[in-house]
Amino acid sequence: MEVIGLVEKMQQASENLRLSGKALALVPTMGFFHEGHLELMRVAKKHADIVVVSIFVNPTQFGPKEDLNTYPRDLEGDLFKAENVGVDLAFVPAVHDMYPDRFQTTVSVQKATKHLCGLSRPAHFDGVTTVVAKLFNIIKPHIAVFGQKDFQQLVVVTRMVQDLNMDVRIVGVPTVREPDGLAMSSRNSFLNPLERESALCLKKSLDLARNLVARGEFQASILIKGVKEMILSSPFTEIDYVNLCDPVSMENVQKVEGETLLALAVRVGKTRLIDNCLLSAKLLRRI
Ligand code: PAF
Repeated sequence: MEVIGLVEKMQQASENLRLSGKALALVPTMGFFHEGHLELMRVAKKHADIVVVSIFVNPTQFGPKEDLNTYPRDLEGDLFKAENVGVDLAFVPAVHDMYPDRFQTTVSVQKATKHLCGLSRPAHFDGVTTVVAKLFNIIKPHIAVFGQKDFQQLVVVTRMVQDLNMDVRIVGVPTVREPDGLAMSSRNSFLNPLERESALCLKKSLDLARNLVARGEFQASILIKGVKEMILSSPFTEIDYVNLCDPVSMENVQKVEGETLLALAVRVGKTRLIDNCLLSAKLLRRI
């Protein structure tokens, strides 16, 4: 596996690969790989000749009081794991190369970012779309693979690609979970054993909502109440949001009708975790 640090060198390598007729897939990441990331890489491999993984803890998507400085990092371990699943190229840029001194451009999706995580993390999605747009320009992938755990991110990036006619196909991959149901996340490493146990309430509350819907309960207020009660009955939890929304616009809905996204953000101790599920038919057709 080749490792490239410089933007210019990456652009040249991608250009050469494209000219030689190779199909390129990009898996954008912030590193500290777990099975969820590796699954994205495996899916990418099925879609392309060459898989590029970017590893970049993007400062512009963190708020001033967020965990940029403590975000877990393990570059050596990441490169080892990526190579093992057959990644061809790792792009590991430096912050000053991605954001040089006079940098002043932002890519901003206007509406889908104004809900869910966009409310509690106001500049987050501008940081995500800006860095993803830059990665697309640098790596020029034919496809890019994102996890459905960050469902709103997947929707926002898909919107950006459509609105700006970017020539890249976005592929969403279902959330990978630990055997006990906890959605895999780099931030799970912050949880102590008691918090780790408590964090299971996210998945359990999604299951509760699914069961309620299966029994014919479609009212958002009742489903949300049940989910919140279940989360708050676990120790160390504080709810950021529990929302039922349209899986394309991200706007709240009053009832489960057709495809509806149940999205959660919950602080367990100091760690903010997110999870989601669709309460009806499949989503990606509509994005
Ligand atoms: O999902 C992530 O890890 C990040 O938001 C991404 C897409 C790599 C952009 O920095």
